[in-house]
Amino acid sequence: MSTAMELDPAKMEAFGARFLEAMNGAAMMLMSSIGHRTGLFDTMADLPAATSAEVAAASGLNERYVREWLNALVSAQVVDFDPTEQSYRLPAEHAALLTRAATPSNLASVAQWIAVLGYVETQIVDKFSHGGGVCYHEFHRFHDVMADESSQTTVSAMIEHILPLVDGLLEKLERGIDVLDIGCGSAKALILLAERFPQSRFCGYDLCADAIVAGQRLAEEKDLPNLTLKVRDVAELIDCDRFDLITAFDAIHDQAYPDQVLSNISRALRRDGIFLMQDIRASSYVEKNIDQPLGAFIYTISCMHCMSVSLAQGGLGLGAAWGEEMAQEMLIAAGFSQVDIHRLNHDILNNYYLARLG
Ligand SMILES: C[S@@+](CC[C@H](N)C(=O)[O-])C[C@H]1O[C@@H](n2cnc3c(N)ncnc32)[C@H](O)[C@@H]1O
Repeated sequence: MSTAMELDPAKMEAFGARFLEAMNGAAMMLMSSIGHRTGLFDTMADLPAATSAEVAAASGLNERYVREWLNALVSAQVVDFDPTEQSYRLPAEHAALLTRAATPSNLASVAQWIAVLGYVETQIVDKFSHGGGVCYHEFHRFHDVMADESSQTTVSAMIEHILPLVDGLLEKLERGIDVLDIGCGSAKALILLAERFPQSRFCGYDLCADAIVAGQRLAEEKDLPNLTLKVRDVAELIDCDRFDLITAFDAIHDQAYPDQVLSNISRALRRDGIFLMQDIRASSYVEKNIDQPLGAFIYTISCMHCMSVSLAQGGLGLGAAWGEEMAQEMLIAAGFSQVDIHRLNHDILNNYYLARLG
């Protein structure tokens, strides 16, 4: 064991300072999540410098809470404060990264994950002693926040950036093909596709009834006869229709049986079909993820959600950082003969895999 004499004081001081900064960063994330959910960032983006009473009146919220929120974000240097006027202002450069109008660059939406994960901390601590995992239904707002993230990273980039990764796919969708989305969640991506390509037929399967019900509600508002959403476990997708395109947006690494699901996907594809898999951009080796800008976040969300929901079903618990190396191996083992990996500028969290049968 190290003695005090062996400690490097400069290293210790630097680490202590970094830890304190992270503490303030965590506080800023919680306040940013609240700013997103209450609409306070959106309101402030439209206001000139305003007192806490004016911000509260404009947002229809309680002044005392609004003032404490504002002061937390003044301390975090997110909001500017004028002590003479007692007024607060969200700088335009910050609003450009914190409001709904800023989608797909709305960082406040991403901040919601910290509270979603914190909600299951006690259960996760227990799993460290006893193993097992936390089930989807034990999380609060998981599917809501996931739908928000899907709007940010998938829906907003679908037509311009994601679909063009596959040569000729836009034209095929215009003419009419069969599409399946695995683990579709609240189906934000499918709803966009079904609206945009009325000649194609879209089907979405998800394990969680609450996600499918939310998706069906959204779909009903749009009247989409070419869209079907079903509660279905894709690990049991044995005898099913054949599809020209199968997509999985952030929905393979948290499977209980990802190997089985990938084999089912390869069997459900038509011979010239394509599997488009969006999944976390990481290496299978932790030492190669140290420079990943979101490395700590990826392993944390994995520990508290992705790995855990898989283990809760008696599954493999691959984890979000299963990585490119293992993803490629598993796709080949599942029957795909060609796998290409793409990266898109708008999305630093994910890779886009295109897998073909032959
Ligand atoms: C991280 S979420 C992604 C949801 C959606 N694709 C999106 O981008 O918003 C993963 C989804 O996969 C679903 N899922 C996990 N295992 C599944 C299975 N075996 N069958 C069907 N859906 C599954 C979960 O319920 C969850 O909605």
